[in-house]
Amino acid sequence: MSANPVDLKVTVGTLQFENPFILASAPPTADGNFIRKAFDLGWAGAVIKTVKPDEMSIEDVSPRFGVLRDRKGSVIGFENFELVSKRDTAYWIQEIGKLKKEYPQKVLIASIMADIKEKSWQDLSRAMEAAGADALELNFSCPHGMPERGMGAAIGQDPHISALITGWVKKAVGIPVIVKLSPNVSDIRVIAGAALDAGADALAAINTVQSLIGVDIETFEPLPNVGGFSTYGGYSGLAVKPIGLRCVSQISQGGKIPVHGIGGIGRWQDAIEYITVGAGAVQVCTEVMLNGFAVIQPMLKGLKAYMQRKDINSLSEICGLAAQKMVAHESLSRQTVARAEIVAADACIVCKKCATVCNESGYEAIYAVQDGVRIDQNKCDGCSLCSIVCPRQIIEMKICQG
Ligand SMILES: Cc1cc2nc3c(=O)[nH]c(=O)nc-3n(C[C@H](O)[C@H](O)[C@H](O)COP(=O)(O)O)c2cc1C
Repeated sequence: MSANPVDLKVTVGTLQFENPFILASAPPTADGNFIRKAFDLGWAGAVIKTVKPDEMSIEDVSPRFGVLRDRKGSVIGFENFELVSKRDTAYWIQEIGKLKKEYPQKVLIASIMADIKEKSWQDLSRAMEAAGADALELNFSCPHGMPERGMGAAIGQDPHISALITGWVKKAVGIPVIVKLSPNVSDIRVIAGAALDAGADALAAINTVQSLIGVDIETFEPLPNVGGFSTYGGYSGLAVKPIGLRCVSQISQGGKIPVHGIGGIGRWQDAIEYITVGAGAVQVCTEVMLNGFAVIQPMLKGLKAYMQRKDINSLSEICGLAAQKMVAHESLSRQTVARAEIVAADACIVCKKCATVCNESGYEAIYAVQDGVRIDQNKCDGCSLCSIVCPRQIIEMKICQG
C-alpha cells in the first residue's frame, strides 16, 4: 500500500482533468442543468450532446431505445437511434458560458456535427470557442439518421472527408480539436491517422456500434418497433467494451497518442483497462443512462484504492502498458503451454459440464468418474473452454511450460 497520496489528475493532449471520468456526448449532457448535477457529484468533464447548425431540422422517433439482457435479466447491451441535440446553438452558447463561470475547474467539451460545408463547420466551431468551450469534439461517428444526410459516420468512414473537415476546424479555432471515431469501419487506424495528419489534437473512441437489437418473434417486427418498422441503431454499454478496447489499443500507439476511451465503462476496473490500452481519460454514457450520475462515486473510490494498493501515484504510469503487449497472432509464443487443472476437487458438483463441452467442442480430454471429473493431461490442448463453463470455477489454466 502506497504511503503517498494518489493523484487522480490526468492530462489528455493539453487538457487537464481532475480525474479521468468524463460524461460522453449523449442524453445525460443534453441539458445544462444535467451537467451541473454531474459536476457537483464529481465528474471531471462533460462533452455536451452533439450540436448541429440551427437551419438543419431533426425530429426524434419513439421509442428509440432497445436492450439486450443476459439470461438473468440484466442489461448487457443498449441500442439507440436517437438523433443529436434538440437545443439550438443559442441555448448552448449561453449555457457553455454560464457553466464555465460556475465550474472553471471542470472541462467542458462541445460536440459538433454539420453537413460537409466549410462554413457550417467553421461557424459552429467558432461559436463554441467564443462561448468558452475548452475543446471541440467532432462527431464523425453517429451511425444512424445523420449518415443518410452525409453526416456522422458517413464522414468518419471516409479518411479524405475526415481529414478535410478536421483541417477546416483546425483553421477556424485555437482550442483543442478531438475527433470522435466510429468503430463501424474496416480499419479504424486509417481514419485515426487521417484525422491526426490533418491536425487533430486528440481522438475519442468509440461511438456506438451499428446494430439491430432484436426481433419480436410473434409479430416479426424488428426492434425497437416504431409503428411496425425499425432501423439500424447504435449499440453501447458493457457488451461493446471489447470493441472499444480493441479500437483504443489500435489507435493509441501504446499511449503516445492522446485518446479518450469510450464504450461499456461502468466500473473503475473498466477505466483502468482503457487506460492500460492507451486512453488518457474515459467517457461514460450508457452506465449513467441506466443508473444515474452517482455511479461516479464508487468509481472514484475504487480507482483511488486500486492506485494505493498498486503504489501508482499517477495514472500516466500505467497508460498504454497493455497496448504495448498486443502483437500479431503469429508473434504469440508457442513455447508457453497451458493445461487445465482441477484446483478444488472437493467443490465439484459433478455437473459434468466441463466433460460435455470438452467431448463436444474440445479435445475429449475430460471424463466423468463417480465422484467428479478427471482431466487426461495427454489429450488436453489448453484451449480453456472447460474453465470457462465450470460453474464453480474449480478448473484453472496452469502454465506448465514456457
Ligand atoms: C441514447 C444515446 C445518444 C447518444 N448521442 C450521442 C451524440 O449526440 N453524440 C455523440 O458523439 N455520441 C452519442 N452517443 C454515443 C456515446 O457518446 C458513446 O460514444 C457510446 O454510447 C459508447 O459509450 P457507452 O458504452 O458508455 O454508452 C449516444 C449514445 C446513446 C446511448
